[in-house]
Amino acid sequence: MKKKIKIAPSILASNFSILGKEIVDISKAGADYIHFDIMDGHFVPNLTFGPDTVKFLRKFTKKKFDVHLMIEPVDKFLIPFIEAGADIISFHPETVKNVNKTIKTIKSFKKQVGLVLNPNIGENKIFPYLKKIDLILVMSVYPGFGGQKFIESQIKKIKKIDEKIKKEKLNIDIEVDGGINSNNAKKILEAGANILVAGTACFKGGKKFYKKNILNLKKK
Ligand code: DX5
Ligand code: ZN
Repeated sequence: MKKKIKIAPSILASNFSILGKEIVDISKAGADYIHFDIMDGHFVPNLTFGPDTVKFLRKFTKKKFDVHLMIEPVDKFLIPFIEAGADIISFHPETVKNVNKTIKTIKSFKKQVGLVLNPNIGENKIFPYLKKIDLILVMSVYPGFGGQKFIESQIKKIKKIDEKIKKEKLNIDIEVDGGINSNNAKKILEAGANILVAGTACFKGGKKFYKKNILNLKKK
């Protein structure tokens, strides 16, 4: 069964001075998820939002909050982000002591769980957990900043993950994050991805372009 294509705008590229309004506008423009890039200035060289920001933004939309944790340690922040309104929590396996335990905690709150692969980490790293997760997030840039160039080598990785999921007959989403735009979205979807995270490509030009920006990523 063909998975629905979803667009997850990353608010990293939005206007932080009007974050609530940006969430309303990008939701109205057709976002499927709202992607929060949570960065701690330790696991990645940038610092962004915490659970309180997520909590205050929860009331502005019904769209799923797709929380990408680029932090270490992860475990002590799981409950604060879940209580703040996260619907999906994705984490990098190398940032936790026990991947199964962290997966179990997220699922115990009935939230979706994703594992994240940086460009330099092979897909085999997450194959042991496939039966326990809802989503694989393939980073197509080294995390930390928006506006970077898509790393082409990740297309091969997406294809291998898609093949493995199909072979094991699993219903897992493949989400890709970093450097995605209307010029490369089609080949990323053809490789097997079904959720595209895009910051620059979604928020460019201001709110009157949001709807078109999102549609341009979905077009076949
Ligand atoms: C990690 C972040 C970025 C961001 C997408 O750095 O996860 O990949 O969401 O940024 P753009 O779409 O501007 O490359
Ligand atoms: Zn992200």
